[in-house]
Amino acid sequence: MTRRAVIIGTGHYLPARVVPNAEFAATLDTTDDWIVSRSGIERRHFAADGEFTSDLATHAARAALARAGLTPADIDAVVVATSTPDFTFPAVATQVQAALGMERGFAFDVQAVCAGFVFALANANGMILSGQADRVLVIGAETFSRIMDWTDRSTCVLFGDGAGAVVLQAQDGAGTAQDRGILASDLHSDGRYRDLLYVDGGVSRSGTAGCLRMQGREVFRHAVEKLAATAQGALAKAGLSAAELDWIVPHQANLRIIRGTAQKLGLAMDKVVVTVQDHGNTSAASIPLALSVAAAEGRFAPGDLVLTEAIGGGLSWGAVLLRW
Ligand code: UT7
Repeated sequence: MTRRAVIIGTGHYLPARVVPNAEFAATLDTTDDWIVSRSGIERRHFAADGEFTSDLATHAARAALARAGLTPADIDAVVVATSTPDFTFPAVATQVQAALGMERGFAFDVQAVCAGFVFALANANGMILSGQADRVLVIGAETFSRIMDWTDRSTCVLFGDGAGAVVLQAQDGAGTAQDRGILASDLHSDGRYRDLLYVDGGVSRSGTAGCLRMQGREVFRHAVEKLAATAQGALAKAGLSAAELDWIVPHQANLRIIRGTAQKLGLAMDKVVVTVQDHGNTSAASIPLALSVAAAEGRFAPGDLVLTEAIGGGLSWGAVLLRW
């Protein structure tokens, strides 16, 4: 018997306010046409005043628990991937824990920017495999609208707010690639590229939250190559090939990156979950949002081989391969 971490529930939450590209064209030198053709983004959601990352995360968590048929008391750990916490500390995860009324377990945040959910999922898998926890709530939640420079057209049109969550549960498998659950993960960072995508403020440096800065063209160049390589890395660890994939659920940053990566892996776009048109880039929330939307549409069948992959600031990137 091999212990496996299986996704038994997904949920998501999007703030009510939908912002179409046309809203940016009214105040910036940009067009709907440019945003759609360069990124695939048509609209995104922005959190309301007084609505915070922990609120989004809690909504998504409740939805995932409901779909899993569990209550907060069943959960051993809460892991939130975010780069936009409500407070410098405590962790958003502890706020979610309290909001859910949990009186036990442990909770912490993971910060790997857009790759955060993949890093969090790999870590939660490790905690389940080691016996530290049996059920883990893994959440990606962001309010990137709070770190935008609204005068910078090259970044502010790209990002959105939202949250997605999954419930991971320990189950016994046979130890083969046919098992349900997480089969392999592949994580990387290269801090030499930290200036390509960063926030120009922070607690220790400036005492401010700062604004996001990105050399988009350079990040793009790294993205397709590194995402295809990490996808192959995760597949190789499980002894599987890209041809065996039923679904890719990529980080939703740019439709051209999503297409380019699928093409490098030799996969048709009908195997790729795409939500970037409706959500924009929600950083660590993008993969669990896409997973939850696709699951709610009934797109995954039990036994489907699903690959998630992401890249973001750091640079940090990685992939998690799982069987639904
Ligand atoms: O989630 C973390 C990972 N992040 C990413 O994966 C993002 C990766 N990068 C990208 O998605 C793309 O690079 C962007 C969507 C950010 C930009 O697309 P691009 O095709 O790489 O455009 P570019 O940066 O090369 O800019 C092309 C032109 C520039 O004008 P010039 O220099 O050619 O005259 C920009 O100034 O487009 C201009 N531009 C805009 N024009 C209209 C930049 N932003 C805008 C805008 N509206 N909003």
